[in-house]
Amino acid sequence: MDKMERLDKILSNLGYGSRKDIKKIIKEGRVQVNKETIRDNSFKINPYKDKIELDGEEIQYRKYIYIMMNKPKGLVSSTYDPANRTVLDLIDSKYLAFSPFPVGRLDKDTEGLLILSNDGKLAHELLSPKKGIEKTYYVEVEGFIDQKYKSKFCQGIVLDDGYKTLPAKLEILEQGFFSKAQLTIMEGKFHQVKRMFQAIGMEVVYLKRISMGGLKLDESLGPGEYRELTEEEIQLLKEEKSNI
Ligand code: URA
Repeated sequence: MDKMERLDKILSNLGYGSRKDIKKIIKEGRVQVNKETIRDNSFKINPYKDKIELDGEEIQYRKYIYIMMNKPKGLVSSTYDPANRTVLDLIDSKYLAFSPFPVGRLDKDTEGLLILSNDGKLAHELLSPKKGIEKTYYVEVEGFIDQKYKSKFCQGIVLDDGYKTLPAKLEILEQGFFSKAQLTIMEGKFHQVKRMFQAIGMEVVYLKRISMGGLKLDESLGPGEYRELTEEEIQLLKEEKSNI
Protein backbone atom coordinates (compact mmCIF):
# COMPACT_ATOMS: atom_id res chain seq x y z
CA MET A 1 0.00 0.00 0.00
CA ASP A 2 1.25 3.51 -0.80
CA LYS A 3 2.39 5.51 2.19
CA MET A 4 0.46 8.62 3.24
CA GLU A 5 2.79 11.60 3.41
CA ARG A 6 2.64 15.20 4.56
CA LEU A 7 1.79 17.67 1.82
CA ASP A 8 4.59 20.08 2.79
CA LYS A 9 7.16 17.28 2.74
CA ILE A 10 6.05 16.09 -0.69
CA LEU A 11 6.20 19.57 -2.21
CA SER A 12 9.54 20.28 -0.62
CA ASN A 13 10.99 16.97 -1.87
CA LEU A 14 9.76 17.83 -5.33
CA GLY A 15 11.84 21.00 -5.21
CA TYR A 16 9.13 23.63 -4.72
CA GLY A 17 10.98 25.27 -1.84
CA SER A 18 11.98 24.76 1.79
CA ARG A 19 9.43 23.45 4.30
CA LYS A 20 9.05 27.08 5.45
CA ASP A 21 8.39 28.34 1.88
CA ILE A 22 5.87 25.55 1.34
CA LYS A 23 4.04 26.31 4.59
CA LYS A 24 3.54 29.86 3.30
CA ILE A 25 2.41 28.70 -0.15
CA ILE A 26 -0.13 26.34 1.46
CA LYS A 27 -1.39 29.03 3.91
CA GLU A 28 -1.95 31.33 0.92
CA GLY A 29 -4.39 28.77 -0.49
CA ARG A 30 -2.37 28.09 -3.62
CA VAL A 31 -2.41 24.32 -3.23
CA GLN A 32 -5.33 22.04 -4.05
CA VAL A 33 -5.68 18.33 -3.41
CA ASN A 34 -8.36 16.60 -5.47
CA LYS A 35 -9.71 20.07 -6.35
CA GLU A 36 -10.07 21.08 -2.69
CA THR A 37 -7.94 23.94 -1.35
CA ILE A 38 -5.80 22.78 1.58
CA ARG A 39 -4.42 25.31 4.06
CA ASP A 40 -2.99 22.84 6.57
CA ASN A 41 0.65 22.05 5.76
CA SER A 42 0.59 18.86 7.83
CA PHE A 43 -2.29 17.46 5.77
CA LYS A 44 -1.51 13.89 4.69
CA ILE A 45 -2.12 12.56 1.21
CA ASN A 46 -1.32 9.60 -0.99
CA PRO A 47 1.05 11.18 -3.51
CA TYR A 48 0.53 8.38 -6.05
CA LYS A 49 -3.27 8.64 -6.07
CA ASP A 50 -4.26 12.13 -5.01
CA LYS A 51 -4.20 14.94 -7.56
CA ILE A 52 -2.05 17.85 -6.37
CA GLU A 53 -2.24 21.28 -7.99
CA LEU A 54 -0.18 24.40 -7.35
CA ASP A 55 -1.61 27.63 -8.73
CA GLY A 56 -3.96 25.49 -10.83
CA GLU A 57 -1.12 23.46 -12.44
CA GLU A 58 -1.05 19.74 -11.81
CA ILE A 59 2.09 18.43 -10.12
CA GLN A 60 3.50 15.09 -11.23
CA TYR A 61 4.69 13.16 -8.20
CA ARG A 62 7.81 11.05 -8.59
CA LYS A 63 10.30 9.53 -6.27
CA TYR A 64 13.25 9.12 -8.60
CA ILE A 65 14.95 11.29 -11.16
CA TYR A 66 17.27 10.17 -13.92
CA ILE A 67 19.54 12.69 -15.61
CA MET A 68 21.89 12.28 -18.54
CA MET A 69 24.80 14.71 -18.53
CA ASN A 70 27.53 15.33 -21.03
CA LYS A 71 30.20 15.73 -18.37
CA PRO A 72 32.71 18.43 -19.20
CA LYS A 73 36.43 18.29 -18.41
CA GLY A 74 37.55 19.84 -15.13
CA LEU A 75 34.72 18.72 -12.84
CA VAL A 76 34.83 15.74 -10.54
CA SER A 77 32.02 13.20 -10.56
CA SER A 78 31.24 13.04 -6.87
CA THR A 79 28.66 14.72 -4.68
CA TYR A 80 31.21 16.68 -2.66
CA ASP A 81 34.84 17.60 -3.11
CA PRO A 82 36.71 20.06 -0.89
CA ALA A 83 39.04 21.22 -3.68
CA ASN A 84 37.15 20.92 -6.97
CA ARG A 85 33.85 21.81 -8.57
CA THR A 86 31.64 18.75 -8.89
CA VAL A 87 29.13 17.80 -11.57
CA LEU A 88 26.36 18.66 -9.07
CA ASP A 89 27.40 22.31 -9.32
CA LEU A 90 25.85 22.28 -12.80
CA ILE A 91 22.50 20.88 -11.68
CA ASP A 92 19.45 23.07 -11.14
CA SER A 93 18.10 23.26 -7.59
CA LYS A 94 14.77 21.76 -8.67
CA TYR A 95 16.69 18.51 -9.37
CA LEU A 96 19.06 18.85 -6.39
CA ALA A 97 16.01 18.58 -4.14
CA PHE A 98 15.97 14.87 -5.08
CA SER A 99 19.59 14.39 -3.87
CA PRO A 100 20.95 12.87 -7.08
CA PHE A 101 24.43 11.35 -7.22
CA PRO A 102 26.62 10.30 -10.15
CA VAL A 103 26.12 6.67 -11.12
CA GLY A 104 29.76 5.63 -11.46
CA ARG A 105 32.71 7.92 -11.95
CA LEU A 106 34.48 9.55 -14.82
CA ASP A 107 37.94 11.04 -14.26
CA LYS A 108 38.22 14.80 -13.88
CA ASP A 109 39.63 15.09 -17.42
CA THR A 110 37.14 12.64 -19.00
CA GLU A 111 34.06 13.88 -20.84
CA GLY A 112 30.81 12.32 -21.85
CA LEU A 113 27.90 10.25 -20.66
CA LEU A 114 27.25 10.44 -16.95
CA ILE A 115 23.99 9.37 -15.35
CA LEU A 116 22.86 11.15 -12.20
CA SER A 117 20.04 9.65 -10.20
CA ASN A 118 18.72 9.07 -6.69
CA ASP A 119 17.70 5.50 -7.54
CA GLY A 120 20.22 3.56 -5.49
CA LYS A 121 18.96 0.18 -6.62
CA LEU A 122 19.38 0.97 -10.30
CA ALA A 123 22.81 2.49 -9.65
CA HIS A 124 23.91 -0.63 -7.83
CA GLU A 125 22.71 -2.89 -10.64
CA LEU A 126 24.36 -0.78 -13.34
CA LEU A 127 27.69 -0.71 -11.55
CA SER A 128 27.78 -4.29 -10.35
CA PRO A 129 30.73 -6.09 -12.01
CA LYS A 130 28.56 -9.22 -12.11
CA LYS A 131 26.17 -7.56 -14.55
CA GLY A 132 28.92 -6.75 -17.03
CA ILE A 133 27.18 -3.66 -18.41
CA GLU A 134 29.10 -2.50 -21.51
CA LYS A 135 30.57 0.98 -21.51
CA THR A 136 31.90 2.42 -24.75
CA TYR A 137 34.52 5.17 -24.87
CA TYR A 138 35.83 7.30 -27.71
CA VAL A 139 39.59 7.50 -27.23
CA GLU A 140 42.41 9.51 -28.78
CA VAL A 141 45.91 8.22 -28.08
CA GLU A 142 49.39 9.35 -28.86
CA GLY A 143 50.96 6.97 -31.39
CA PHE A 144 49.93 4.43 -33.99
CA ILE A 145 47.43 1.80 -32.81
CA ASP A 146 48.30 -1.38 -34.64
CA GLN A 147 45.48 -3.74 -35.72
CA LYS A 148 47.17 -6.51 -33.69
CA TYR A 149 45.92 -4.84 -30.50
CA LYS A 150 42.35 -5.73 -31.40
CA SER A 151 42.94 -9.38 -30.53
CA LYS A 152 45.09 -8.45 -27.51
CA PHE A 153 42.27 -6.32 -26.07
CA CYS A 154 39.83 -9.11 -26.92
CA GLN A 155 41.85 -11.54 -24.80
CA GLY A 156 42.03 -9.10 -21.87
CA ILE A 157 44.93 -6.81 -20.98
CA VAL A 158 47.15 -7.18 -17.93
CA LEU A 159 47.23 -3.86 -16.06
CA ASP A 160 50.08 -2.35 -14.01
CA ASP A 161 48.84 -4.06 -10.82
CA GLY A 162 48.74 -7.51 -12.45
CA TYR A 163 44.96 -7.58 -12.90
CA LYS A 164 43.83 -9.05 -16.22
CA THR A 165 40.80 -7.25 -17.61
CA LEU A 166 37.77 -8.97 -19.04
CA PRO A 167 37.66 -9.10 -22.86
CA ALA A 168 37.31 -5.65 -24.39
CA LYS A 169 36.35 -4.63 -27.92
CA LEU A 170 38.68 -2.26 -29.73
CA GLU A 171 37.54 -0.58 -32.90
CA ILE A 172 40.21 1.49 -34.63
CA LEU A 173 38.86 4.60 -36.32
CA GLU A 174 42.04 6.35 -37.46
CA GLN A 175 45.75 5.46 -37.34
CA GLY A 176 48.59 7.98 -37.32
CA PHE A 177 50.92 9.92 -35.00
CA PHE A 178 47.73 10.30 -32.99
CA SER A 179 45.14 7.54 -33.37
CA LYS A 180 41.40 7.42 -32.72
CA ALA A 181 39.43 4.42 -31.50
CA GLN A 182 36.39 3.18 -29.65
CA LEU A 183 36.86 0.83 -26.75
CA THR A 184 34.08 -1.16 -25.10
CA ILE A 185 34.72 -2.54 -21.64
CA MET A 186 32.54 -4.46 -19.21
CA GLU A 187 34.08 -3.30 -15.95
CA GLY A 188 34.93 -0.04 -14.28
CA LYS A 189 38.34 -0.41 -12.67
CA PHE A 190 40.11 2.77 -11.59
CA HIS A 191 41.39 4.64 -14.72
CA GLN A 192 40.71 1.46 -16.65
CA VAL A 193 40.80 2.75 -20.22
CA LYS A 194 43.92 4.86 -19.63
CA ARG A 195 45.66 1.93 -17.95
CA MET A 196 44.72 -0.52 -20.73
CA PHE A 197 46.39 1.74 -23.29
CA GLN A 198 49.29 2.36 -20.94
CA ALA A 199 49.81 -1.42 -20.85
CA ILE A 200 50.46 -1.36 -24.61
CA GLY A 201 52.71 1.67 -24.26
CA MET A 202 50.25 4.36 -25.35
CA GLU A 203 49.02 7.46 -23.62
CA VAL A 204 45.37 8.50 -23.77
CA VAL A 205 45.14 12.20 -24.63
CA TYR A 206 41.35 12.47 -24.89
CA LEU A 207 38.61 10.30 -23.41
CA LYS A 208 34.85 10.51 -23.75
CA ARG A 209 32.22 7.96 -22.70
CA ILE A 210 29.64 7.61 -25.44
CA SER A 211 27.37 4.83 -24.18
CA MET A 212 26.44 2.77 -21.17
CA GLY A 213 24.41 -0.38 -21.77
CA GLY A 214 21.83 0.51 -24.40
CA LEU A 215 21.91 4.18 -23.46
CA LYS A 216 23.76 6.47 -25.85
CA LEU A 217 24.94 10.00 -25.08
CA ASP A 218 22.62 12.53 -26.68
CA GLU A 219 25.07 14.29 -28.98
CA SER A 220 22.93 17.43 -28.96
CA LEU A 221 24.08 17.99 -25.36
CA GLY A 222 27.17 20.19 -25.27
CA PRO A 223 29.78 19.69 -22.50
CA GLY A 224 28.14 20.58 -19.19
CA GLU A 225 24.59 20.24 -20.54
CA TYR A 226 22.11 17.71 -19.25
CA ARG A 227 18.53 16.59 -19.55
CA GLU A 228 16.19 14.12 -17.90
CA LEU A 229 16.09 10.65 -19.41
CA THR A 230 12.94 9.82 -21.33
CA GLU A 231 10.66 6.99 -20.11
CA GLU A 232 12.02 4.79 -22.92
CA GLU A 233 15.61 5.48 -21.89
CA ILE A 234 14.86 4.66 -18.24
CA GLN A 235 13.25 1.39 -19.34
CA LEU A 236 16.29 0.65 -21.50
CA LEU A 237 18.55 0.92 -18.46
CA LYS A 238 16.24 -1.11 -16.27
CA GLU A 239 15.94 -3.88 -18.85
CA GLU A 240 19.69 -3.82 -19.39
CA LYS A 241 20.34 -4.92 -15.86
CA SER A 242 18.13 -7.98 -16.15
CA ASN A 243 19.33 -9.09 -19.59
CA ILE A 244 22.84 -9.94 -18.61
N1 URA B 1 38.59 4.84 -17.87
C1 URA B 1 39.45 5.84 -17.54
O1 URA B 1 40.67 5.69 -17.61
N2 URA B 1 38.92 6.99 -17.13
C2 URA B 1 37.58 7.24 -17.06
O2 URA B 1 37.17 8.33 -16.70
C3 URA B 1 36.72 6.19 -17.41
C4 URA B 1 37.25 5.00 -17.81
